[in-house]
Amino acid sequence: MEEEQQQQVENPSYYDLVILGASGFTGKYVVREALKFLNTSSSPLKTLALAGRNPAKLSETIKWASSNSHSSIPHSISIIKADVSDPSSLRDLCSKTKLILNCVGPFRLYGEPVVSACVEMGCDYLDICGEPEFMEKMEAIYHEKAVERGSLVISACGFDSVPAEMGLMFNSRQWVSPAAPNRVEAYLSLESDKRIVGNFGTFESAVLGVANMEKLQELRKSRPRRARPVIPGPPPAKGSLIEHQKKVGLWAVKLPSADSIVVRRTLSTLKENPHGLPGVNESAEQIEKRRNFWLTVKLAHFGVKIGSKSIFGVYGFIIVGMFIGLLGRTGFGRWLLLKFPSIFTLGGFRKKGPTEEEVESASFKMWFVGQGYSDESLASQEGNRKPDTEIITRVMGPEIGYLTTPIILLQCALIVLNQREHLPKGGVFPPGIVFGPTDLQERLQQNGISFDVISRNALSD
Ligand SMILES: NC(=O)c1ccc[n+]([C@@H]2O[C@H](COP(=O)([O-])OP(=O)(O)OC[C@H]3O[C@@H](n4cnc5c(N)ncnc54)[C@H](OP(=O)(O)O)[C@@H]3O)[C@@H](O)[C@H]2O)c1
Repeated sequence: MEEEQQQQVENPSYYDLVILGASGFTGKYVVREALKFLNTSSSPLKTLALAGRNPAKLSETIKWASSNSHSSIPHSISIIKADVSDPSSLRDLCSKTKLILNCVGPFRLYGEPVVSACVEMGCDYLDICGEPEFMEKMEAIYHEKAVERGSLVISACGFDSVPAEMGLMFNSRQWVSPAAPNRVEAYLSLESDKRIVGNFGTFESAVLGVANMEKLQELRKSRPRRARPVIPGPPPAKGSLIEHQKKVGLWAVKLPSADSIVVRRTLSTLKENPHGLPGVNESAEQIEKRRNFWLTVKLAHFGVKIGSKSIFGVYGFIIVGMFIGLLGRTGFGRWLLLKFPSIFTLGGFRKKGPTEEEVESASFKMWFVGQGYSDESLASQEGNRKPDTEIITRVMGPEIGYLTTPIILLQCALIVLNQREHLPKGGVFPPGIVFGPTDLQERLQQNGISFDVISRNALSD
C-alpha cells in the first residue's frame, strides 16, 4: 500500500483523486472543498485532476474554486477531457486514478458508463446520486463484478443520504441494552434568512425519478428478496398526512427522498452481515473495532419527513409534490416542469441555481425522534406493546446541496484514500454499511456537521 502511494505521488500522470463533472454547479463546490485538503501535511490527497467534456469550463472552475478557497496553498491541478458518452475516455480516466468522485447527473442518464468503466478498471467510485433506481440498478448489474475486480462503488455520498444513514445509527446507538428502539422518524428542516433554492440538475433528477417510478418496482420484482431486519415490537401505524411534531416544533409531511430506501439497503446488508463488511486487509484490532461498532447499532423502522415551523410551509411542500407527482408522469407535463422549474416549485429550484449568498445563508437541521422500549423484552409481552421511551437526536449543518454535500463527499473520499485496507475489497454498497464503522462521523463533526443528543424521556400512555 505504502509503495503504491509512493508511486502515485512520483508519477504526475496518476492522481489520488479525479473529480468528474467538476464544471457543474455542485462539481465546482466539490472542487472548492477538495482544495482545503490538497497537499496539506496530514492529508492523503496530494494530486488532484478535474475531468469533464469541456476543458475551458474546467479551467473556469479552478479559477472560481481557488478564488473562493480559504486556503492559501498554491495548487497545481490537472485537467482531463472525458465524456460520459465516450467509454474509452472513461477507461483512460480510470487508468489515471484510484478514485473517481462523480458529479455528473442526472445519474439515470449519465451515470452507468462511469460505474461500468470504474468496475472494469478496478477503480473506486463515489457519487452524490439521490436516485434510488440508479443505485439499485448499479447494484444489480455490477456488484458481483465489482467484488471480483476490487472496485468499491458507493452512491449517495452527499446530503442524500449520509445524514440519514449516520443520523439513524447515531440515534440507534443511544439505546443501551436492554433498551431498544422500535422506530426512528427523521424530520428535516431547511432554514435561511434568504430564499432556499436548489439547482436545476437536482430538480431534473427528481422529475425523471417520478417519471420512472415503475421501473424501480419492476427492477425489485426481478431481484431476489432482500433480508428483512427483525425489529422489536409492532411496525408504526401510518398516521395522518400532516403531522404536528410538537417536540421539535415542526409541521411535517412525508418526504419521498432516497434516504429511507438507502437506509433500508444498509439495514438489510447488515442483517445478512451482522458484523458488517470485512475490510480487504484488516488488522485483528480493526476487525474487533468493526464488530463492536455494529453490535451497538440497533435496527429500527425508519422514515423521513420534511418540516416547517408553519403549517403553510407544509402546504407549499404538498403543492410542489403534487405538481411533480402529477406532471412528471407525462411527456408534456415533464416538458412544462423542466421549462418552468421556478414556477412549479414555488421558487424552490432555479435554472441558474442559488446565488453564493443564498448558499452561504442556508442551513439544515435533521431531528431523529426515536421511540422504543426501556427493556427490549417489553416488545414481546402480550397486551400493551407501546414504546415507553423516546430519544431525540439531531444532525445539523450548512446548506444541503452545495456545502454539506461536498463536505460529506470529500470526507468519504479521504477515508477511501487513507483507510482503504479497512474497507471491502469491492462491491456496490450504500454508504452507511461501508463508512458506519469508520471515523466518518468524527470527520463530519470536525467539518461543521454536528451530531447531538437532545433529550431522553419516558413516554406516558
Ligand atoms: N446528494 C445530494 O444531496 C446532491 C446534492 C447536489 C447535487 N446532486 C446531484 O448531482 C447531480 C448534478 O447536479 P448539478 O446541479 O451540479 O448539475 P449540473 O450543474 O447540470 O452539472 C452537471 C455536470 O455534468 C456534466 N456533464 C453532462 N453531460 C456530460 C457528458 N456527456 N460528459 C461529461 N460530463 C457531462 C456537466 O458538464 P458541462 O459543464 O460540460 O455541461 C456538468 O459538469 C444531479 O444528479 C443532482 O441531483 C445531489
